[in-house]
Amino acid sequence: MSNSLFRKKSLTSIIKDANDGLTDGLETGGMHKVLKVKDLTAMGIAAVIGAGIFSTIGEASFHGGPGVSLLFLITAITCGFSALCYAEFASRVPVSGSAYTYSYVTFGELAAWVIGWALILEYAIGNIAVAISWSGYCNNLLRGLGLSLPAWLSSNYDSASPETIAAAPHIGSLPVIVNLPAFIVVVLITYLAYVGIRESKRSANFMVGLKILVILFVIVLGFFYVNKSNWVPFMPNGFSGVLKGVSAVFFAYIGFDAVSTTAEECANPQRDLPKGMIYSLIICTVLYILISFVLTGMVPFYKLKVDDPLAFVFDEVHLPWISYLISVSAVIATTSVLLVFQIGQPRIWMSMSRDGLLPKRFAKIHPRFKTPSFATIITGIIVGVPALFLNLTIVTDLTSIGTLFAFILVCGGVLMLPPQEKGDGKRFRLPYINGQIVVPVLVTGLVIFFHKELLQKLSFAGGWEVWKHNIPFFIFVVVTVLITYFSFARKLSLIPVLGLLSCFYLMTEIALKNWIVFSIWLVIGLSIYFLYSYRHSKLKSAA
Ligand code: ALA
Repeated sequence: MSNSLFRKKSLTSIIKDANDGLTDGLETGGMHKVLKVKDLTAMGIAAVIGAGIFSTIGEASFHGGPGVSLLFLITAITCGFSALCYAEFASRVPVSGSAYTYSYVTFGELAAWVIGWALILEYAIGNIAVAISWSGYCNNLLRGLGLSLPAWLSSNYDSASPETIAAAPHIGSLPVIVNLPAFIVVVLITYLAYVGIRESKRSANFMVGLKILVILFVIVLGFFYVNKSNWVPFMPNGFSGVLKGVSAVFFAYIGFDAVSTTAEECANPQRDLPKGMIYSLIICTVLYILISFVLTGMVPFYKLKVDDPLAFVFDEVHLPWISYLISVSAVIATTSVLLVFQIGQPRIWMSMSRDGLLPKRFAKIHPRFKTPSFATIITGIIVGVPALFLNLTIVTDLTSIGTLFAFILVCGGVLMLPPQEKGDGKRFRLPYINGQIVVPVLVTGLVIFFHKELLQKLSFAGGWEVWKHNIPFFIFVVVTVLITYFSFARKLSLIPVLGLLSCFYLMTEIALKNWIVFSIWLVIGLSIYFLYSYRHSKLKSAA
Protein backbone atom coordinates (compact mmCIF):
# COMPACT_ATOMS: atom_id res chain seq x y z
CA MET A 1 0.00 0.00 0.00
CA SER A 2 2.66 2.51 0.96
CA ASN A 3 4.26 2.25 -2.47
CA SER A 4 0.98 2.62 -4.27
CA LEU A 5 0.25 5.83 -2.35
CA PHE A 6 3.23 7.33 -4.12
CA ARG A 7 2.40 5.87 -7.51
CA LYS A 8 3.06 8.53 -10.11
CA LYS A 9 1.53 9.30 -13.45
CA SER A 10 3.99 9.66 -16.26
CA LEU A 11 3.96 12.79 -18.36
CA THR A 12 3.23 10.73 -21.45
CA SER A 13 0.14 9.12 -19.97
CA ILE A 14 -1.20 12.44 -18.65
CA ILE A 15 -0.92 14.01 -22.07
CA LYS A 16 -2.38 10.92 -23.74
CA ASP A 17 -5.39 10.89 -21.37
CA ALA A 18 -5.99 14.55 -22.03
CA ASN A 19 -5.84 14.04 -25.78
CA ASP A 20 -7.95 10.90 -25.87
CA GLY A 21 -10.57 11.74 -23.26
CA LEU A 22 -12.03 8.69 -21.60
CA THR A 23 -13.19 5.89 -23.82
CA ASP A 24 -16.14 4.66 -21.88
CA GLY A 25 -18.98 6.27 -23.70
CA LEU A 26 -18.94 9.58 -21.85
CA GLU A 27 -18.75 12.68 -23.97
CA THR A 28 -15.24 13.78 -23.09
CA GLY A 29 -14.00 14.94 -26.45
CA GLY A 30 -11.59 17.83 -27.08
CA MET A 31 -12.16 21.38 -25.93
CA HIS A 32 -12.00 24.56 -28.01
CA LYS A 33 -8.37 25.71 -28.36
CA VAL A 34 -8.93 29.42 -28.59
CA LEU A 35 -6.80 31.12 -25.91
CA LYS A 36 -3.69 33.13 -26.85
CA VAL A 37 -1.14 35.14 -24.79
CA LYS A 38 -3.36 38.23 -24.75
CA ASP A 39 -6.38 36.24 -23.55
CA LEU A 40 -4.33 34.40 -20.95
CA THR A 41 -2.84 37.63 -19.59
CA ALA A 42 -6.33 39.12 -19.50
CA MET A 43 -7.60 36.02 -17.77
CA GLY A 44 -4.80 36.29 -15.18
CA ILE A 45 -5.65 39.92 -14.50
CA ALA A 46 -9.33 39.02 -14.48
CA ALA A 47 -8.65 36.48 -11.72
CA VAL A 48 -6.27 38.62 -9.68
CA ILE A 49 -7.74 42.11 -9.38
CA GLY A 50 -10.91 41.82 -7.35
CA ALA A 51 -12.11 41.52 -3.78
CA GLY A 52 -8.57 41.82 -2.41
CA ILE A 53 -7.78 45.28 -3.69
CA PHE A 54 -11.35 46.55 -3.46
CA SER A 55 -12.18 45.17 0.02
CA THR A 56 -9.66 43.31 2.18
CA ILE A 57 -6.78 45.78 1.63
CA GLY A 58 -8.67 48.27 3.85
CA GLU A 59 -7.97 46.39 7.04
CA ALA A 60 -4.39 45.57 5.93
CA SER A 61 -3.68 49.31 5.48
CA PHE A 62 -5.26 50.08 8.84
CA HIS A 63 -2.74 47.79 10.57
CA GLY A 64 0.27 48.37 8.34
CA GLY A 65 -0.06 52.01 7.25
CA PRO A 66 1.78 53.06 4.07
CA GLY A 67 4.17 50.15 4.76
CA VAL A 68 1.51 47.89 3.27
CA SER A 69 2.99 48.78 -0.13
CA LEU A 70 6.15 46.99 1.02
CA LEU A 71 4.02 43.96 1.78
CA PHE A 72 2.59 44.14 -1.75
CA LEU A 73 6.16 44.06 -3.05
CA ILE A 74 7.26 41.18 -0.80
CA THR A 75 4.16 39.17 -1.68
CA ALA A 76 4.67 39.88 -5.37
CA ILE A 77 8.23 38.54 -5.17
CA THR A 78 6.99 35.43 -3.38
CA CYS A 79 4.26 34.96 -5.97
CA GLY A 80 6.84 35.65 -8.70
CA PHE A 81 8.95 32.66 -7.61
CA SER A 82 5.84 30.51 -7.57
CA ALA A 83 4.68 31.87 -10.94
CA LEU A 84 8.01 30.86 -12.48
CA CYS A 85 7.58 27.36 -11.04
CA TYR A 86 4.01 27.18 -12.35
CA ALA A 87 5.35 28.33 -15.69
CA GLU A 88 7.97 25.57 -15.74
CA PHE A 89 5.29 22.98 -15.06
CA ALA A 90 2.86 24.50 -17.54
CA SER A 91 5.47 24.22 -20.27
CA ARG A 92 6.13 20.57 -19.44
CA VAL A 93 2.62 19.37 -18.55
CA PRO A 94 0.28 21.32 -20.82
CA VAL A 95 -3.01 19.86 -19.59
CA SER A 96 -5.77 21.20 -17.33
CA GLY A 97 -5.47 20.42 -13.65
CA SER A 98 -2.89 22.98 -12.53
CA ALA A 99 -0.97 22.14 -9.34
CA TYR A 100 -2.95 18.91 -8.98
CA THR A 101 -1.58 17.46 -12.21
CA TYR A 102 1.90 18.79 -11.50
CA SER A 103 1.98 17.03 -8.12
CA TYR A 104 0.81 13.78 -9.71
CA VAL A 105 3.89 13.80 -11.93
CA THR A 106 6.36 14.63 -9.18
CA PHE A 107 5.14 13.51 -5.77
CA GLY A 108 2.65 10.81 -6.69
CA GLU A 109 -1.02 10.17 -6.18
CA LEU A 110 -1.53 10.88 -2.49
CA ALA A 111 0.10 14.30 -2.68
CA ALA A 112 -1.80 15.02 -5.88
CA TRP A 113 -5.08 14.26 -4.15
CA VAL A 114 -4.12 16.46 -1.20
CA ILE A 115 -3.27 19.33 -3.48
CA GLY A 116 -6.45 18.88 -5.53
CA TRP A 117 -8.36 18.99 -2.28
CA ALA A 118 -6.47 22.11 -1.10
CA LEU A 119 -7.17 23.82 -4.43
CA ILE A 120 -10.89 23.67 -3.61
CA LEU A 121 -10.02 26.21 -0.92
CA GLU A 122 -8.41 28.47 -3.49
CA TYR A 123 -11.04 28.20 -6.20
CA ALA A 124 -14.44 27.29 -4.77
CA ILE A 125 -14.04 28.64 -1.23
CA GLY A 126 -12.14 31.68 -2.56
CA ASN A 127 -15.06 32.37 -4.85
CA ILE A 128 -17.45 32.41 -1.91
CA ALA A 129 -15.38 35.32 -0.54
CA VAL A 130 -15.44 37.05 -3.91
CA ALA A 131 -19.21 36.60 -4.24
CA ILE A 132 -19.73 38.12 -0.79
CA SER A 133 -17.52 41.09 -1.67
CA TRP A 134 -19.41 41.46 -4.99
CA SER A 135 -22.66 41.59 -3.11
CA GLY A 136 -21.34 44.34 -0.79
CA TYR A 137 -20.44 46.62 -3.69
CA CYS A 138 -23.62 45.72 -5.60
CA ASN A 139 -25.67 46.80 -2.58
CA ASN A 140 -23.75 50.11 -2.56
CA LEU A 141 -24.77 50.62 -6.17
CA LEU A 142 -28.39 49.68 -5.56
CA ARG A 143 -28.52 52.07 -2.63
CA GLY A 144 -27.18 54.84 -4.85
CA LEU A 145 -30.06 54.16 -7.24
CA GLY A 146 -32.56 54.18 -4.38
CA LEU A 147 -33.21 50.44 -4.77
CA SER A 148 -31.94 49.06 -1.45
CA LEU A 149 -32.68 45.45 -0.63
CA PRO A 150 -33.88 44.72 2.90
CA ALA A 151 -30.81 44.07 5.09
CA TRP A 152 -31.92 40.49 5.85
CA LEU A 153 -31.67 39.70 2.11
CA SER A 154 -28.15 41.06 1.69
CA SER A 155 -26.27 40.05 4.81
CA ASN A 156 -25.31 37.00 6.84
CA TYR A 157 -25.98 35.93 10.36
CA ASP A 158 -22.43 36.72 11.62
CA SER A 159 -22.38 40.29 10.32
CA ALA A 160 -26.06 41.21 10.80
CA SER A 161 -26.90 43.97 13.26
CA PRO A 162 -29.45 43.33 16.05
CA GLU A 163 -31.96 45.48 14.09
CA THR A 164 -31.49 43.32 10.98
CA ILE A 165 -32.02 40.17 13.03
CA ALA A 166 -35.16 41.62 14.60
CA ALA A 167 -36.56 42.71 11.22
CA ALA A 168 -35.86 39.37 9.50
CA PRO A 169 -38.65 36.82 8.95
CA HIS A 170 -38.31 33.83 11.28
CA ILE A 171 -38.69 30.10 10.79
CA GLY A 172 -39.63 29.10 14.31
CA SER A 173 -37.09 31.00 16.40
CA LEU A 174 -34.48 31.07 13.61
CA PRO A 175 -34.12 34.40 11.77
CA VAL A 176 -33.78 34.07 7.99
CA ILE A 177 -30.77 36.17 6.95
CA VAL A 178 -29.32 35.44 3.54
CA ASN A 179 -27.03 37.10 1.02
CA LEU A 180 -29.28 36.86 -2.02
CA PRO A 181 -27.19 38.97 -4.47
CA ALA A 182 -24.14 36.76 -3.76
CA PHE A 183 -26.18 33.68 -4.62
CA ILE A 184 -27.69 35.20 -7.77
CA VAL A 185 -24.33 36.31 -9.18
CA VAL A 186 -22.90 32.80 -8.67
CA VAL A 187 -25.86 31.31 -10.57
CA LEU A 188 -25.36 33.74 -13.48
CA ILE A 189 -21.60 33.21 -13.64
CA THR A 190 -22.01 29.45 -13.46
CA TYR A 191 -24.34 29.68 -16.45
CA LEU A 192 -21.71 31.66 -18.39
CA ALA A 193 -18.97 29.14 -17.51
CA TYR A 194 -21.34 26.35 -18.58
CA VAL A 195 -22.16 27.69 -22.02
CA GLY A 196 -18.62 28.08 -23.23
CA ILE A 197 -15.03 29.16 -22.98
CA ARG A 198 -15.42 31.54 -25.96
CA GLU A 199 -18.21 33.44 -24.26
CA SER A 200 -16.23 33.46 -21.02
CA LYS A 201 -13.11 34.66 -22.83
CA ARG A 202 -14.95 37.56 -24.47
CA SER A 203 -16.55 38.59 -21.19
CA ALA A 204 -13.24 38.34 -19.31
CA ASN A 205 -11.41 40.45 -21.90
CA PHE A 206 -14.10 43.11 -21.80
CA MET A 207 -14.23 43.26 -17.99
CA VAL A 208 -10.45 43.39 -17.68
CA GLY A 209 -10.13 46.29 -20.15
CA LEU A 210 -12.68 48.26 -18.22
CA LYS A 211 -11.27 47.57 -14.78
CA ILE A 212 -7.71 48.47 -15.77
CA LEU A 213 -8.92 51.76 -17.22
CA VAL A 214 -10.80 52.63 -14.05
CA ILE A 215 -7.90 51.63 -11.82
CA LEU A 216 -5.44 53.72 -13.85
CA PHE A 217 -7.84 56.63 -13.63
CA VAL A 218 -8.08 56.20 -9.85
CA ILE A 219 -4.29 56.08 -9.51
CA VAL A 220 -3.71 59.18 -11.62
CA LEU A 221 -6.50 61.22 -10.05
CA GLY A 222 -5.70 59.93 -6.55
CA PHE A 223 -2.11 61.17 -6.76
CA PHE A 224 -3.42 64.75 -6.98
CA TYR A 225 -5.14 64.28 -3.63
CA VAL A 226 -2.20 62.70 -1.82
CA ASN A 227 -1.09 64.45 1.33
CA LYS A 228 2.55 63.39 1.71
CA SER A 229 2.42 63.74 5.49
CA ASN A 230 0.14 60.66 5.54
CA TRP A 231 3.12 58.58 4.32
CA VAL A 232 5.04 59.39 7.50
CA PRO A 233 5.65 57.30 9.52
CA PHE A 234 5.91 54.61 6.87
CA MET A 235 5.24 51.74 9.29
CA PRO A 236 3.24 53.25 12.18
CA ASN A 237 2.80 49.84 13.86
CA GLY A 238 6.21 48.51 12.90
CA PHE A 239 6.90 45.60 10.59
CA SER A 240 4.66 43.36 12.68
CA GLY A 241 1.74 45.68 11.88
CA VAL A 242 2.54 45.36 8.19
CA LEU A 243 2.66 41.57 8.47
CA LYS A 244 -0.88 41.50 9.87
CA GLY A 245 -2.01 42.09 6.31
CA VAL A 246 -0.37 38.96 4.86
CA SER A 247 -3.58 37.03 4.36
CA ALA A 248 -5.44 39.98 2.80
CA VAL A 249 -2.57 41.03 0.53
CA PHE A 250 -1.82 37.49 -0.55
CA PHE A 251 -5.53 37.00 -1.28
CA ALA A 252 -5.28 39.99 -3.62
CA TYR A 253 -2.63 38.19 -5.69
CA ILE A 254 -4.35 34.83 -5.91
CA GLY A 255 -5.47 34.05 -9.41
CA PHE A 256 -2.51 34.25 -11.79
CA ASP A 257 -2.15 30.48 -11.36
CA ALA A 258 -5.78 29.89 -12.36
CA VAL A 259 -4.69 30.51 -15.92
CA SER A 260 -2.92 27.15 -15.89
CA THR A 261 -6.26 25.32 -15.65
CA THR A 262 -7.11 26.35 -19.19
CA ALA A 263 -4.10 24.55 -20.73
CA GLU A 264 -6.29 22.42 -22.99
CA GLU A 265 -8.07 25.45 -24.36
CA CYS A 266 -4.81 27.24 -25.35
CA ALA A 267 -3.58 27.46 -28.90
CA ASN A 268 0.02 26.94 -27.74
CA PRO A 269 0.07 26.20 -23.99
CA GLN A 270 3.81 25.51 -23.65
CA ARG A 271 4.77 28.91 -24.97
CA ASP A 272 1.75 31.04 -24.05
CA LEU A 273 0.73 29.88 -20.57
CA PRO A 274 3.99 30.89 -18.86
CA LYS A 275 3.88 34.27 -20.58
CA GLY A 276 0.23 34.82 -19.61
CA MET A 277 0.92 34.08 -15.94
CA ILE A 278 4.05 36.17 -15.66
CA TYR A 279 2.71 39.18 -17.60
CA SER A 280 -0.47 39.28 -15.53
CA LEU A 281 1.50 39.10 -12.28
CA ILE A 282 3.80 41.95 -13.31
CA ILE A 283 0.92 44.19 -14.40
CA CYS A 284 -1.03 43.54 -11.19
CA THR A 285 2.02 44.14 -8.99
CA VAL A 286 2.64 47.56 -10.51
CA LEU A 287 -1.01 48.54 -10.17
CA TYR A 288 -1.24 47.26 -6.60
CA ILE A 289 1.84 49.09 -5.36
CA LEU A 290 0.65 52.33 -6.92
CA ILE A 291 -2.84 51.88 -5.48
CA SER A 292 -1.50 51.20 -2.00
CA PHE A 293 0.51 54.44 -2.13
CA VAL A 294 -2.51 56.40 -3.31
CA LEU A 295 -4.78 54.86 -0.72
CA THR A 296 -2.50 55.49 2.24
CA GLY A 297 -1.50 58.92 0.93
CA MET A 298 -5.05 60.22 0.55
CA VAL A 299 -6.26 59.58 4.11
CA PRO A 300 -4.52 58.75 7.41
CA PHE A 301 -4.05 54.98 7.74
CA TYR A 302 -6.15 54.70 10.92
CA LYS A 303 -9.29 55.61 8.99
CA LEU A 304 -8.95 52.75 6.54
CA LYS A 305 -10.63 49.96 8.47
CA VAL A 306 -13.52 49.83 6.00
CA ASP A 307 -14.87 47.22 3.56
CA ASP A 308 -14.79 49.53 0.54
CA PRO A 309 -11.47 51.40 1.00
CA LEU A 310 -11.06 52.66 -2.56
CA ALA A 311 -14.55 54.12 -2.67
CA PHE A 312 -14.11 55.45 0.87
CA VAL A 313 -10.99 57.54 0.20
CA PHE A 314 -12.69 59.43 -2.62
CA ASP A 315 -15.68 60.09 -0.41
CA GLU A 316 -13.23 61.49 2.15
CA VAL A 317 -11.85 64.00 -0.37
CA HIS A 318 -15.40 64.98 -1.34
CA LEU A 319 -15.54 63.29 -4.74
CA PRO A 320 -18.63 61.09 -4.31
CA TRP A 321 -19.05 60.54 -8.06
CA ILE A 322 -15.61 58.92 -8.23
CA SER A 323 -16.57 56.82 -5.28
CA TYR A 324 -19.64 55.69 -7.24
CA LEU A 325 -17.51 54.93 -10.30
CA ILE A 326 -15.28 52.78 -8.10
CA SER A 327 -18.26 50.85 -6.83
CA VAL A 328 -19.27 50.15 -10.44
CA SER A 329 -15.77 49.00 -11.34
CA ALA A 330 -15.54 46.88 -8.17
CA VAL A 331 -18.65 45.04 -9.26
CA ILE A 332 -17.12 44.46 -12.69
CA ALA A 333 -13.72 43.49 -11.27
CA THR A 334 -15.11 40.95 -8.86
CA THR A 335 -17.40 39.54 -11.54
CA SER A 336 -14.40 38.66 -13.67
CA VAL A 337 -12.63 37.02 -10.70
CA LEU A 338 -15.74 34.94 -10.10
CA LEU A 339 -15.80 33.90 -13.73
CA VAL A 340 -12.20 32.72 -13.90
CA PHE A 341 -12.40 30.68 -10.71
CA GLN A 342 -15.77 29.29 -11.70
CA ILE A 343 -14.06 28.12 -14.90
CA GLY A 344 -10.96 26.83 -13.08
CA GLN A 345 -12.52 24.61 -10.43
CA PRO A 346 -14.41 22.26 -12.78
CA ARG A 347 -11.28 21.79 -14.90
CA ILE A 348 -9.29 20.61 -11.89
CA TRP A 349 -12.07 18.19 -11.00
CA MET A 350 -12.15 17.08 -14.62
CA SER A 351 -8.47 16.11 -14.39
CA MET A 352 -9.00 14.32 -11.07
CA SER A 353 -11.92 12.44 -12.55
CA ARG A 354 -9.92 11.37 -15.59
CA ASP A 355 -7.48 9.79 -13.16
CA GLY A 356 -10.31 7.95 -11.42
CA LEU A 357 -9.97 9.94 -8.19
CA LEU A 358 -13.44 11.44 -8.62
CA PRO A 359 -16.52 9.89 -10.25
CA LYS A 360 -16.43 9.83 -14.05
CA ARG A 361 -19.22 12.35 -14.43
CA PHE A 362 -16.83 15.11 -13.37
CA ALA A 363 -14.94 14.61 -16.65
CA LYS A 364 -18.04 14.78 -18.84
CA ILE A 365 -17.71 17.39 -21.56
CA HIS A 366 -20.91 18.97 -22.85
CA PRO A 367 -21.38 17.83 -26.48
CA ARG A 368 -22.31 21.30 -27.74
CA PHE A 369 -20.68 23.76 -25.33
CA LYS A 370 -17.48 21.70 -24.91
CA THR A 371 -17.20 22.57 -21.22
CA PRO A 372 -17.05 20.18 -18.23
CA SER A 373 -20.79 20.53 -17.66
CA PHE A 374 -21.47 18.38 -14.59
CA ALA A 375 -18.40 19.68 -12.72
CA THR A 376 -19.43 23.27 -13.57
CA ILE A 377 -22.88 22.78 -12.04
CA ILE A 378 -21.45 21.20 -8.89
CA THR A 379 -19.05 24.15 -8.56
CA GLY A 380 -22.02 26.50 -8.82
CA ILE A 381 -23.79 24.71 -5.97
CA ILE A 382 -20.71 24.50 -3.75
CA VAL A 383 -19.99 28.21 -4.16
CA GLY A 384 -23.53 29.57 -4.37
CA VAL A 385 -25.13 27.94 -1.34
CA PRO A 386 -22.47 28.87 1.27
CA ALA A 387 -22.30 32.38 -0.23
CA LEU A 388 -25.87 32.80 1.02
CA PHE A 389 -24.80 32.33 4.63
CA LEU A 390 -21.06 32.89 5.29
CA ASN A 391 -19.07 35.98 6.21
CA LEU A 392 -16.07 37.36 4.30
CA THR A 393 -13.10 37.01 6.66
CA ILE A 394 -13.76 33.35 7.51
CA VAL A 395 -13.28 32.46 3.88
CA THR A 396 -10.39 34.76 2.86
CA ASP A 397 -8.03 33.38 5.52
CA LEU A 398 -8.83 29.82 4.56
CA THR A 399 -8.33 30.57 0.88
CA SER A 400 -4.94 32.18 1.49
CA ILE A 401 -3.61 29.30 3.58
CA GLY A 402 -4.83 26.66 1.08
CA THR A 403 -3.31 28.54 -1.86
CA LEU A 404 0.05 29.05 -0.14
CA PHE A 405 0.10 25.33 0.54
CA ALA A 406 -0.50 24.66 -3.17
CA PHE A 407 2.30 27.06 -4.13
CA ILE A 408 4.69 25.29 -1.74
CA LEU A 409 3.97 21.95 -3.37
CA VAL A 410 4.41 23.40 -6.85
CA CYS A 411 7.81 24.89 -5.93
CA GLY A 412 8.79 21.63 -4.23
CA GLY A 413 7.61 19.71 -7.29
CA VAL A 414 9.89 21.69 -9.58
CA LEU A 415 12.83 20.67 -7.39
CA MET A 416 11.98 17.05 -8.12
CA LEU A 417 11.73 17.42 -11.91
CA PRO A 418 14.51 16.03 -14.07
CA PRO A 419 16.39 18.71 -16.06
CA GLN A 420 14.47 19.82 -19.14
CA GLU A 421 15.78 18.59 -22.46
CA LYS A 422 16.83 21.29 -24.87
CA GLY A 423 13.63 22.14 -26.72
CA ASP A 424 12.88 24.17 -29.82
CA GLY A 425 13.53 27.39 -27.91
CA LYS A 426 9.83 28.29 -27.95
CA ARG A 427 9.02 26.55 -24.69
CA PHE A 428 9.50 28.31 -21.39
CA ARG A 429 12.46 27.05 -19.30
CA LEU A 430 13.05 28.01 -15.69
CA PRO A 431 16.61 29.35 -15.42
CA TYR A 432 18.75 27.12 -13.19
CA ILE A 433 20.74 29.08 -10.62
CA ASN A 434 22.82 26.91 -8.32
CA GLY A 435 21.58 27.34 -4.74
CA GLN A 436 24.53 25.51 -3.14
CA ILE A 437 26.20 28.63 -1.75
CA VAL A 438 23.49 31.27 -2.15
CA VAL A 439 20.84 29.54 0.00
CA PRO A 440 23.08 28.89 3.06
CA VAL A 441 24.53 32.42 2.83
CA LEU A 442 21.08 33.98 2.51
CA VAL A 443 19.61 31.96 5.38
CA THR A 444 22.60 32.74 7.63
CA GLY A 445 22.32 36.43 6.76
CA LEU A 446 18.60 36.47 7.63
CA VAL A 447 19.22 34.61 10.91
CA ILE A 448 21.84 37.19 11.91
CA PHE A 449 19.68 40.13 10.87
CA PHE A 450 16.51 38.86 12.58
CA HIS A 451 18.17 37.04 15.50
CA LYS A 452 16.20 38.95 18.14
CA GLU A 453 12.82 38.16 16.58
CA LEU A 454 13.90 34.57 16.01
CA LEU A 455 14.91 34.02 19.63
CA GLN A 456 11.71 35.62 20.81
CA LYS A 457 9.57 33.37 18.61
CA LEU A 458 11.39 30.23 19.63
CA SER A 459 11.48 30.98 23.36
CA PHE A 460 8.94 29.44 25.71
CA ALA A 461 8.50 32.70 27.62
CA GLY A 462 4.80 33.30 28.10
CA GLY A 463 4.03 29.60 28.32
CA TRP A 464 2.02 27.32 26.09
CA GLU A 465 -0.83 29.78 25.48
CA VAL A 466 1.63 32.13 23.78
CA TRP A 467 3.97 29.56 22.28
CA LYS A 468 1.28 27.51 20.55
CA HIS A 469 0.84 30.40 18.10
CA ASN A 470 4.49 29.91 17.12
CA ILE A 471 4.08 26.24 16.14
CA PRO A 472 3.74 27.07 12.41
CA PHE A 473 6.92 29.15 12.69
CA PHE A 474 8.73 26.30 14.41
CA ILE A 475 7.77 23.94 11.54
CA PHE A 476 9.05 26.61 9.15
CA VAL A 477 12.43 26.69 10.93
CA VAL A 478 12.77 22.90 10.66
CA VAL A 479 11.86 22.97 6.94
CA THR A 480 14.33 25.82 6.34
CA VAL A 481 17.16 23.89 8.00
CA LEU A 482 16.40 20.82 5.86
CA ILE A 483 16.10 22.74 2.61
CA THR A 484 19.32 24.63 3.33
CA TYR A 485 21.10 21.34 3.88
CA PHE A 486 19.73 19.85 0.65
CA SER A 487 20.52 23.02 -1.29
CA PHE A 488 24.12 22.64 -0.22
CA ALA A 489 24.33 18.87 -0.67
CA ARG A 490 22.36 18.55 -3.93
CA LYS A 491 22.89 21.94 -5.56
CA LEU A 492 19.15 22.66 -5.63
CA SER A 493 17.78 25.21 -8.05
CA LEU A 494 17.56 28.62 -6.34
CA ILE A 495 14.21 29.95 -7.63
CA PRO A 496 12.00 27.06 -6.44
CA VAL A 497 13.86 26.98 -3.10
CA LEU A 498 13.18 30.68 -2.53
CA GLY A 499 9.58 30.20 -3.66
CA LEU A 500 9.05 27.34 -1.24
CA LEU A 501 10.61 29.10 1.73
CA SER A 502 8.94 32.46 1.14
CA CYS A 503 5.47 30.88 0.72
CA PHE A 504 6.03 28.82 3.84
CA TYR A 505 7.01 31.95 5.75
CA LEU A 506 3.87 33.80 4.64
CA MET A 507 1.85 30.79 5.77
CA THR A 508 3.31 31.11 9.28
CA GLU A 509 1.92 34.65 9.45
CA ILE A 510 -1.64 33.33 9.14
CA ALA A 511 -3.36 32.79 12.50
CA LEU A 512 -3.17 29.40 14.21
CA LYS A 513 -6.95 28.95 14.14
CA ASN A 514 -6.81 28.89 10.33
CA TRP A 515 -4.08 26.24 10.47
CA ILE A 516 -6.41 24.16 12.60
CA VAL A 517 -9.35 24.53 10.20
CA PHE A 518 -6.99 23.80 7.31
CA SER A 519 -5.78 20.62 9.05
CA ILE A 520 -9.38 19.48 9.57
CA TRP A 521 -10.01 20.14 5.90
CA LEU A 522 -7.06 17.95 4.98
CA VAL A 523 -8.24 15.14 7.28
CA ILE A 524 -11.66 15.16 5.59
CA GLY A 525 -9.92 15.07 2.20
CA LEU A 526 -7.72 12.14 3.21
CA SER A 527 -10.76 10.21 4.42
CA ILE A 528 -12.43 10.64 1.03
CA TYR A 529 -9.21 9.56 -0.66
CA PHE A 530 -8.96 6.31 1.29
CA LEU A 531 -12.67 5.55 1.11
CA TYR A 532 -13.15 6.30 -2.59
CA SER A 533 -10.30 7.64 -4.69
CA TYR A 534 -7.58 5.17 -3.72
CA ARG A 535 -9.78 2.27 -4.80
CA HIS A 536 -11.01 3.84 -8.02
CA SER A 537 -7.71 5.28 -9.24
CA LYS A 538 -6.92 4.42 -12.83
CA LEU A 539 -3.32 3.81 -11.85
CA LYS A 540 -4.50 1.05 -9.55
CA SER A 541 -6.33 -0.75 -12.34
CA ALA A 542 -3.32 -0.24 -14.61
CA ALA A 543 -0.96 -1.78 -12.04
N1 ALA B 1 -7.20 37.88 -6.14
C1 ALA B 1 -8.60 37.68 -6.16
C2 ALA B 1 -9.33 38.80 -5.54
O1 ALA B 1 -8.72 39.64 -4.94
C3 ALA B 1 -8.98 36.38 -5.55
O2 ALA B 1 -10.54 38.85 -5.63
